[in-house]
Amino acid sequence: MPAADPIQPLVDELLNSRKYRALNLPAETVRDLLEQELPRHRSGKDALKAVRHKLHTIVAPYLGDPDYDQVAVDLRVASTAGSDALRAACAEVLAAHASTHERLAVLDEFYPHLFAVTGQPRSILDLACGLNPFAWPWMGLPTSTNYHAYDIHAPRVAAINAFFETQGLAPLAEVRDVLVRPPEIDADVAFLFKEAHRMEERQRGCSRGFWRALNVHWLLVSLPAESLSGKFQLADRQRALVQQAIGGAGWPITELVFGSEIVFCIEKRP
Ligand SMILES: C[S@@+](CC[C@H](N)C(=O)[O-])C[C@H]1O[C@@H](n2cnc3c(N)ncnc32)[C@H](O)[C@@H]1O
Repeated sequence: MPAADPIQPLVDELLNSRKYRALNLPAETVRDLLEQELPRHRSGKDALKAVRHKLHTIVAPYLGDPDYDQVAVDLRVASTAGSDALRAACAEVLAAHASTHERLAVLDEFYPHLFAVTGQPRSILDLACGLNPFAWPWMGLPTSTNYHAYDIHAPRVAAINAFFETQGLAPLAEVRDVLVRPPEIDADVAFLFKEAHRMEERQRGCSRGFWRALNVHWLLVSLPAESLSGKFQLADRQRALVQQAIGGAGWPITELVFGSEIVFCIEKRP
């Protein structure tokens, strides 16, 4: 008989809790957190408490969510109503989450400037994508683009795939914990927007191995250049995070600043 897995009941308990049941989080995320926290605490109860705290920060419900059923309906209608209507409907979705809400003010210039550095990508990995794929109408890319989007939030991923289909894009959004299982796919560009500093909080030093594992030409890492309140300038701290993660790899970096977001365009391979 195979040995019992002592972690599985805890994984099930967290996944089926009232707070997370509807999100269908990947078991790999919860298992990874438990495997890190259990050895650090004297009791299972304390470890579970620490995991709950980390999970809350990773899922970050306080950053906002749209009504996903309504999003599907609105975007199906908007996608046949012309480009202005489509942008208006997408902007409403983007406004529902703090990360994309902040980017709305600079969206017209954001992707043209990024792609001026990287060239027009034929394939994208949007890592820990949140609602960013709804910025597709501002990217100026053809529908032949392979847009792989990854998030641990299943309702978000389902809404993104439904949206991709209205746009003639392949439904390549996937529920996946990119830290536990970095995508192996070869791509021109990876977006890692507004999440690397939070991943470092989840697991100090994780960026180094994660960034190395990605098979991409360009890795675009964005980080907040100032605190949410606007009181603290964070650019130097974020530069240090990026340098630490790159280590001795010697990848060249081009920095772009958009409002309170700083993007490090890292050329992983020439
Ligand atoms: C702060 S939001 C950033 C969203 C987006 N990148 C942007 O800047 O618009 C973080 C998102 O990453 C997702 N996430 C966090 N950790 C993840 C992981 N390890 N793998 C995949 N998705 C993750 C969360 O569910 C959430 O949707």
